[in-house]
Amino acid sequence: MKIASAEFVMSNSDVAKCPKNSLPEYAFIGRSNVGKSSLINMLMQRKNLAKTSGKPGKTQLINHFIINKNWYLVDLPGYGYARVSKSTKKVFQKFITQYFEKRQQLVLAFVLVDCRHEPQKIDLDFMQWMGENQIPFNIIFTKADKLKPNALSRNIEVYVEKMLETWEEMPQYFVTSSSKSIGRDELLTYIDTINDQLRQG
Ligand code: GTP
Ligand code: MG
Repeated sequence: MKIASAEFVMSNSDVAKCPKNSLPEYAFIGRSNVGKSSLINMLMQRKNLAKTSGKPGKTQLINHFIINKNWYLVDLPGYGYARVSKSTKKVFQKFITQYFEKRQQLVLAFVLVDCRHEPQKIDLDFMQWMGENQIPFNIIFTKADKLKPNALSRNIEVYVEKMLETWEEMPQYFVTSSSKSIGRDELLTYIDTINDQLRQG
């Protein structure tokens, strides 16, 4: 897919105020600092479309970006960020939960996982919750540039094994690096295919 345009639309903390039209929407979720905003910039080949930071907790709202004027990418705040106050965390969690429960236009969520780490309970619990609520998701392993190929495949194998303890099959997954643009074509082609299928009804 060629990216002809990518524009910021709005930020808000209330799912009821998100764009009203019915364009297909794809959301990026995962722990703070996992690389959600960086991945959006990489996919769109724009340095500062989504705001990124070395410090966790940068993205604090639901951010809509319209791509090629016919689909949305959504950048969400991370979960599991310990340095915001407990009450802030609750508010975050509430609107993220509501976003996933109520957003009809959401076609698919991408749950981002840092490829360097062992499976983390917070991510596994989140995916469990998505499953229980029948919200379709795929997994994106981020920061692949930080591991040598062998270590990368080993970590992914471990992850697949862990998932298969509770899931009948491994959800579709992608391996990416925002600094090296790994996985860009694959992800964009995948989204494009889904958009085409939706258009053909
Ligand atoms: P929050 O908005 O706080 O939830 O974080 P986020 O998930 O949006 O992460 P963000 O994109 O802001 O990136 C966090 C840090 O990880 C930044 O310092 C990025 O430069 C770095 N980072 C993100 N993706 C990659 C990657 O693929 N490779 C490397 N080496 N660093 C990355
Ligand atoms: Mg962010």
